[in-house]
Amino acid sequence: MMRAVIFDLDGVLVSTDHFHYKAWKQIADRLNIPFDEDVNNRLRGVSRMESLDIILSGASDKQFTDDQKQSLAEEKNTVYRKFLEQLSPADILPGVTETLEGLKVKGVAAAVGSSSKNARFILEQVGLLDWFAVIVDGNQISRSKPDSEVFLLAASQLECDASECLVVEDAVAGVQAGVHAGMKVAAVGDAVNSKEATYTLQRIDHLLKLI
Ligand code: BG6
Ligand code: MG
Repeated sequence: MMRAVIFDLDGVLVSTDHFHYKAWKQIADRLNIPFDEDVNNRLRGVSRMESLDIILSGASDKQFTDDQKQSLAEEKNTVYRKFLEQLSPADILPGVTETLEGLKVKGVAAAVGSSSKNARFILEQVGLLDWFAVIVDGNQISRSKPDSEVFLLAASQLECDASECLVVEDAVAGVQAGVHAGMKVAAVGDAVNSKEATYTLQRIDHLLKLI
């Protein structure tokens, strides 16, 4: 029996992708490093520093020290946080509120399992914070998706077995993290082509039929 649904945040609950894209693009353009939607898709679900490493791998002729990388990651986050200040309930993705209401009626717990260190701020900005029994974010994990850490920690805080949790993900790395955790995974958005997902959802509220 499914007792909990663990949602990824960026690209599943809230539309923040264009802000990540614009913030990274600003830096990549300045450094003359190629950056487009394809590279951006590879950043889904992975931590800020690992995202930077993926971007910098497009400039094999350039070398960056750890201090330089740290300051580029901080710069990206400052730009990104400025964008996040504009967030409002209008940025909640379609079907999300109905899904959370449906889970509540069914007595199924809702949780967040995100690689983002800005997760609480985002949830607060869009007014979703109170819907979740458990929120595990990038501040509480040491290994980013596709590692299972974020979802296993959420399950343990929910006091649920992995087999009782359904993960909802838009990132290929996130689908893999859910599978590695021994959970069923519903793929949405960019992850729908992932062969590893248990379910593919055209609309997030269709997950209510799976519970
Ligand atoms: C994930 C995003 O949710 O959070 C990634 O999909 C991002 O693209 C990661 O790199 C870390 O986000 P933040 O907010 O801590 O920089
Ligand atoms: Mg995501």
